[in-house]
Amino acid sequence: MSDLDALRREFRQRFGAEPRVFRAPGRVNLIGGHVDYNDGWVLPLAINRDCFVLAGPRGDGLLRVRSREFGETVEAALPSKPSAEHHWSHYIFGVAWALGEADVPVVGADLLIASDVPTGGGLSSSAALEVSVGLALSSLAGTRLDATALARACQRAENEFVGMRCGIMDQLAACYGRRDHALLIDCRTLAVHPVPLDSTRVRVIVANTMTRHALAASEYNRRRRECEEAVRRISAARPGVTALRDVTWEQIEALAASWPDPIRRRARHVTTEIARVRAAAEALERGEYETLGRLMLEAHHSLDEDYQVSSAELNLMVELAGELPGVLGSRMTGGGFGGSTVHLVRAAAEDFFAPELARRYEARTGIRPEITDCLPADGANEIT
Ligand code: GLA
Repeated sequence: MSDLDALRREFRQRFGAEPRVFRAPGRVNLIGGHVDYNDGWVLPLAINRDCFVLAGPRGDGLLRVRSREFGETVEAALPSKPSAEHHWSHYIFGVAWALGEADVPVVGADLLIASDVPTGGGLSSSAALEVSVGLALSSLAGTRLDATALARACQRAENEFVGMRCGIMDQLAACYGRRDHALLIDCRTLAVHPVPLDSTRVRVIVANTMTRHALAASEYNRRRRECEEAVRRISAARPGVTALRDVTWEQIEALAASWPDPIRRRARHVTTEIARVRAAAEALERGEYETLGRLMLEAHHSLDEDYQVSSAELNLMVELAGELPGVLGSRMTGGGFGGSTVHLVRAAAEDFFAPELARRYEARTGIRPEITDCLPADGANEIT
């Protein structure tokens, strides 16, 4: 964890004032890949890796942001539109903009940002950044946004300001995380139901393949369009269907037989994945971790073969994990095209599993993966 005293000192030296301190966690999704934007259910947990934002108000309406990670300071008036070129500060200015759109009277601020959530590793460092900044800026404005409104504003920032059409899972997980629990989230109603996850029995391990394909963002947006296309085709035959959540694969299989191959596969993944999440949540409620693990592996194959968002490295990591004792299930997690896999491992096997998986992956690829033991953590808050 970042040393908060050192961060406070740095803020005082840099900005000459005493900061308030906010945090929001990263997340890992156990199951429910690419279903959040189809109104489905997902089963993520917030994890014990945080993005910290130290914040103080400014009188002149400027937003001045220092990122520890990028070693850079950026400053702009509020609200401002991003330049075309991608930059980390867009997440921050985007959140300030989206809060303004939600009628939060955002004031100028000095922000110091330091994150333990690895970037680009599928642990949603971006949602952790958005939510911690959103909490900081709304708190400085004296507005208490409820967690769902905060998550929505952060998703809007990413959709409309950054240009990534992400669903709402990551932001909700960062807001609603609960220690020792995973979260069953209904992405239509946005209801969040915490389900206990017993870390004395099983551990959630994330393995970063350390690969990331340039296509990730454009392919993500393409998958969304393909799902929309499937819904258009279904709703012509079944009025009232507004999302893939509204149908099962059995209901649409015959109809889909004549569709273009990618559209049929996308619909099959999403509808079967939603069914898997429901079964996985029930298994988790009952502490049936073997069943959860089996469903995770099925989900991986569906993401690979039907949704086509996996990669050679992700598949290799899942395959290698499957050879190790004590692993109950593995799948790719996050948007895909590189990034990370998530593994459900018996607690007693963890000490062997993590280094052995790293060793075998490195032996095969020459790349040293980053392995993170994730404990379910609380959602965003101010640290007082
Ligand atoms: C990314 C997005 C999420 C979700 C996942 C895939 O992490 O930000 O909204 O769609 O991909 O499940």
